[in-house]
Amino acid sequence: MVNINVVLLVVLLTNFHVVYSTIFNIRDYGAVGDGVTDDTRAIIETIDKCMESGGVLYIPTGKFVVRSSLIFKTNFKFTITGDGIGSVLSWEFDDHLIVILSQDGSESSQLTIRDFSITSSVVLKSLDKFAIYAEDLVQSQIEHLVINSNDSKSFPVPSGIGMMGVADTNTIRDVVMWEIKGTGIQIGYGSEIRILGGRIIGAGIRFDSSIGIHCTGNNGGVHIENTDIIALGTGILIANSSGVGSNREIFISHATIDSNGRGLVIRDNSYVSIIGIWAASSTIDQVFIDENTTAVLSISGGTIFNGGVYECPKESDWCNGLTVRSGTFILNGVEVRNNNGRGIWIPNKSVTQYQIIACRIFANGQGFNVTGSSFMITNNICNSNQIPNAISGTETSIVLNNLGC
Ligand SMILES: *[C@@H]1O[C@H](CO)[C@@H](O)[C@H](O)[C@H]1NC(C)=O
Ligand SMILES: *[C@@H]1O[C@H](CO)[C@@H](O)[C@H](O)[C@H]1NC(C)=O
Ligand SMILES: *[C@@H]1O[C@H](CO)[C@@H](O)[C@H](O)[C@H]1NC(C)=O
Ligand SMILES: *[C@@H]1O[C@H](CO)[C@@H](O)[C@H](O)[C@H]1NC(C)=O
Ligand SMILES: *[C@@H]1O[C@H](CO)[C@@H](O)[C@H](O)[C@H]1NC(C)=O
Repeated sequence: MVNINVVLLVVLLTNFHVVYSTIFNIRDYGAVGDGVTDDTRAIIETIDKCMESGGVLYIPTGKFVVRSSLIFKTNFKFTITGDGIGSVLSWEFDDHLIVILSQDGSESSQLTIRDFSITSSVVLKSLDKFAIYAEDLVQSQIEHLVINSNDSKSFPVPSGIGMMGVADTNTIRDVVMWEIKGTGIQIGYGSEIRILGGRIIGAGIRFDSSIGIHCTGNNGGVHIENTDIIALGTGILIANSSGVGSNREIFISHATIDSNGRGLVIRDNSYVSIIGIWAASSTIDQVFIDENTTAVLSISGGTIFNGGVYECPKESDWCNGLTVRSGTFILNGVEVRNNNGRGIWIPNKSVTQYQIIACRIFANGQGFNVTGSSFMITNNICNSNQIPNAISGTETSIVLNNLGC
């Protein structure tokens, strides 16, 4: 009996070994990792070996200079792993760094990419180049990466992670990006993605074209939790600009959307659900729904504040808390304060059936400037707003039980 068990165990281990665990160490193929030697050829040779039957591409501690794209294309499963932030790929050319291509139209599934750093250096890159560019990822995990620049003025990070098609739960966990000038995370068409923790930090210009997270269209089941999205042109952009069709469901909880040009921008017909909003210190709007959508936005709890705190160059329509130009929304139990423009601004009569309930609206330039129809504004407290509220469209609406509004 004992012998049979041992045999079974060996067989199981052997299978596991064959499928997942062959380790390809880039140093074994000649990579030096001294930050000077060009290690591109050695790494590509290692990848080619790894792609023959899958396995683990291992980047040990060291700074490995890379001068052309590292392309992964296989039907086998693989992992790219380092030892932690001491395993560095030095990105020294103007194209995507890590490229994961679908093989013969099939998806790349169950990949793991984890525990190393990517540092942009030596060459200025076009903004649409990604540290990791992946087509059609399925059930994959990208975690514990640092993506930064060793000289942010000369070689900022162009873009971070691009998933050009997603399905069936891809997870990006605790990925930290600094000095992003393009797009931090871009999500192509598809469903089920989780962005958990981590940070996406821009260059702090607030008027550039940088974007923290961009859902480009037809994305369903996007979850963004506890992620810092700071100092970009646009924090989160939900716009069907390149996917096929409107985005569907976007869930945001306790993300920090802070110090951007605009914080959260919705330009298509998405359903966006936010719990515990933190949208602060952006210049134009903290939360914005553009014209011509049928978007539905639900915000429960949290704070929308400090609009225009860095600058307010266009007081007539900038520096606001929540601006809604179409679609509808529910704002429930949120503190809306210290926005230099309007706390809540609804300039467009097409906004209908919205509800503002149990909020505290104080110390804004103006608390409310709202129109629309069939809305309810109840049980709110207003104080210390600089100019009186303007609420029109009340004929079809209920405005009741508010204190100081
Ligand atoms: C950035 O890295 C490059 C290439 O390794 C090096 O030449 C340069 O001195 C580094 N710059 C800084 C500011 O560390
Ligand atoms: C993109 O969104 C806009 C605004 O919501 C909408 O009018 C348009 O039909 C959408 N386009 C697609 C392809 O879904
Ligand atoms: C909304 O639609 C109107 C009328 O078609 C158009 O003039 C305007 O540019 C659109 N706005 C946006 C932001 O697409
Ligand atoms: C409210 O905003 C509108 C623009 O939507 C503006 O024309 C109007 O002057 C504002 N009303 C007040 C009382 O501030
Ligand atoms: C309201 O939205 C329509 C498009 O739906 C647009 O043409 C119009 O300019 C908007 N009005 C205001 C005051 O924003």
